[in-house]
Amino acid sequence: QQLIKIGLLGLGTVGGGVYKTILNNFDVIRTRTGCEVTVSRVLVRDLEKERQLDVDGSLLTLEPEDLIGDASIDIFIEVMGGIEPAKTIILDVLRSGRHVITANKELLAKHGAELLEVAEENGVHLLFEASVAGGIPIIRLLQGYLTANRVDGISGILNGTCNYILTKMAKTGRDYSEILEEAKLLGYAEADPTSDVEGYDAAYKLAILANLAYDVQVETANIERQGISQLSSADVKAAKRLGYTIKLVGAAAKEQEGVRLSVRPRLLPDDHPLARVDDVFNAVTVQADVVGDLTFIGRGAGELPTASAVVEDLTALLTGGDAIRRPSWHRRLEESASGAEGG
Ligand code: NDP
Ligand code: HSE
Repeated sequence: QQLIKIGLLGLGTVGGGVYKTILNNFDVIRTRTGCEVTVSRVLVRDLEKERQLDVDGSLLTLEPEDLIGDASIDIFIEVMGGIEPAKTIILDVLRSGRHVITANKELLAKHGAELLEVAEENGVHLLFEASVAGGIPIIRLLQGYLTANRVDGISGILNGTCNYILTKMAKTGRDYSEILEEAKLLGYAEADPTSDVEGYDAAYKLAILANLAYDVQVETANIERQGISQLSSADVKAAKRLGYTIKLVGAAAKEQEGVRLSVRPRLLPDDHPLARVDDVFNAVTVQADVVGDLTFIGRGAGELPTASAVVEDLTALLTGGDAIRRPSWHRRLEESASGAEGG
């Protein structure tokens, strides 16, 4: 058995879920990968913080260098969020020749091409399945499976917090802000939930999917975006009475001149498949030219569904699975710029 040491950057909702999963599924992971995985150091912001998790306090540190400088750490998992210091730490780790797994969609949407390029230059991988739609393996589908199809469109519910709020508003008539507080306690919302309710989070995810599907460089700023903060329970209930459900939908469509992208609340007839996707569930439909529509539904946020995606990336690294075989979007961009068809 090979011993694999993990450096965990962040021990909040997702980091806690990753820590628990590595511990609780130690035997499953060992059987499937032949590796004994342990978390050997954890970066946090506050050593005094009371934690729900039973974790050995001597593993925790405030100093990124305690992890980056520890040559015995094999793989890093970044679940701290935000742009800095996450970006600098990830770049340092990649340049030190070690793999990184991240759930950080904002960072990927804004700097993904640069980070992926540095990973490739250093012969290591940057994996990010958890960055879009929580436990749904949508990155793997676009990156590791749909290689013979052309993707014509992608659409879906990409934010668990908004879907939770809209579902509860429709079913209970309770107030928007009260339900948002609940979503925060459940660990669904971002550190700054403005990102959820104003549609930025869904836009980051849509940008990542479009970058993978279309071999074009998508800037989040170019995505037409509207959130749900202006919707009241009365609006949601009125729609219901008329036979409609309001959902925050992200959509990307291939057009002659590139890709059209939007995130906005939509009125869906109650019998529309997305109208029945409730609570923290996400749904993603990929329209592909050969296979037709593929739809995935699953929990899109929260401790364990997200940890599942992170740890699946980890086992992919350990087994050399599909997720790590294909060039990521920056390489395909270079290829399309040098002659192949672009978006
Ligand atoms: P939390 O706020 O719950 O946790 C963040 C963790 O990172 C905390 O442990 C915090 O330390 C640590 N941290 C933050 N900033 C620093 C810093 N500057 N230096 C050292 N440690 C730091 O966030 P989540 O777990 O919810 O999210 C983490 C990432 O995962 C984000 O990128 C988010 O977008 C993404 N994500 C979240 C999902 C979810 O359902 N929550 C789902 C999919 C992706 P301390 O504990 O000391 O405060
Ligand atoms: N805040 C995000 C959401 C977390 O609610 O969907 C999952 O990416």
